[in-house]
Amino acid sequence: MTKLDPIALDEQARAILRANDRGGYTVPTAGLYPYQWNWDSAFAAWGFATFDVTRAWDEVETLFSGQWPNGMVPHILFHRPDPGYFPGPDVWGAEDVGPVPSSGISQPAVAATFIRAIWEKDRAAGAAHLKTLFPKIKAWHRWFMEWREQDGMIFVSHPWEAGRDNCADWDSAMARLDPVGVGEYTRRDTSHVNPAMRPTKADYDRYIWLVQRGRRMGWDEAQMAVDRPFRVADPTLSFILLRANRDLAVMADALGEDRREIDEWTARLEAGAARLKNPETGIFDAIDLGDGRHTGHVTSASFLCWYAGVEDAKTLAALEKCFETTRYGVPSLSVQSPEFDGMRYWRGPTWAIINTLIGLGLADMGHHGHAERVRQMTRALIADHGFAEYFHPQTGDPAGGGTFTWTAAVWLAWASPSQGEN
Ligand code: DGY
Repeated sequence: MTKLDPIALDEQARAILRANDRGGYTVPTAGLYPYQWNWDSAFAAWGFATFDVTRAWDEVETLFSGQWPNGMVPHILFHRPDPGYFPGPDVWGAEDVGPVPSSGISQPAVAATFIRAIWEKDRAAGAAHLKTLFPKIKAWHRWFMEWREQDGMIFVSHPWEAGRDNCADWDSAMARLDPVGVGEYTRRDTSHVNPAMRPTKADYDRYIWLVQRGRRMGWDEAQMAVDRPFRVADPTLSFILLRANRDLAVMADALGEDRREIDEWTARLEAGAARLKNPETGIFDAIDLGDGRHTGHVTSASFLCWYAGVEDAKTLAALEKCFETTRYGVPSLSVQSPEFDGMRYWRGPTWAIINTLIGLGLADMGHHGHAERVRQMTRALIADHGFAEYFHPQTGDPAGGGTFTWTAAVWLAWASPSQGEN
């Protein structure tokens, strides 16, 4: 075990953010992800805010510079061509839809929450930024409510939209897709990372097939909404947007803006959160809207309820059980699941960013002991195993990309001892 040296770790984390800085935006990690990713960038901004608030504002402003006319903020902005990544802008075919070449889907709406946090660090310096960003964030949230909401739950139209690319929650909906005509393509991710840590070829065929469908429809939401082949109501997107709306409402008050529309969204999403609770297990999971069934998987997203301001005793008991069975925090799929695969992306590994969101939520809801436990586990994970993309939840073995922006960012803003106690 590494002896924890907080000053050296803080310095390493800052060096990672600086090294991944491409001028106004940060790549998640060189090589594997060479562009600006939406939620990665929001975490990066929060990390930058611990030592350079101006740079933090640049990060989120660059992200919103890619907002589409319909309000959507894309999940990838392809600022500069990079042949090392697939699928690039030529595959998405959305070059002319928004102001910056981009993908055609979005990602979990963590930005409002971290923008609020950055603004709260220095309200005077942040006032002008907040005023400019507020209507943009609101337009993005409205896009979610218009095009991704059903019964108060936010659904994914592509597995990449939840950020949890290959998680077990998509299995039933993915099995129903027939990626006929997807054609030949060359993956680039598996040339950067061990294929055993990445989604399978069967997954990729379906990811690309869904991209090709969107492209054929010119990424027109109204057209895509007719007969969507993939639609899963998701706790990640739902809980994160619910939380983001609460933060947006605080910003509205500070700016003297009308918050009624935001409050209506919050009420709808609160009702939807209750629907995500699986009546058989008592735990929040996803619902495959293709057949209306709960997926029954306990994932790290199940524990985002507190982050959304939703209390739940049964989930708290499940979290305590998770503390007993895993060493490094909340696995992306329960270690008890037959599907558990501890090194494969979202099918088992622990992600420091999800630990962070869970910890923030627990602290906000007054579960300080639990929050501190998650934080200590994450602290030990990073101190012992470095700033990897994700980790085996039991051994801590690092997986995926190395020197990862969001792992460094959550270290600086939350896991580091320099951040005090919960
Ligand atoms: C990837 O390329 O693996 C990304 O997760 C897509 O956003």
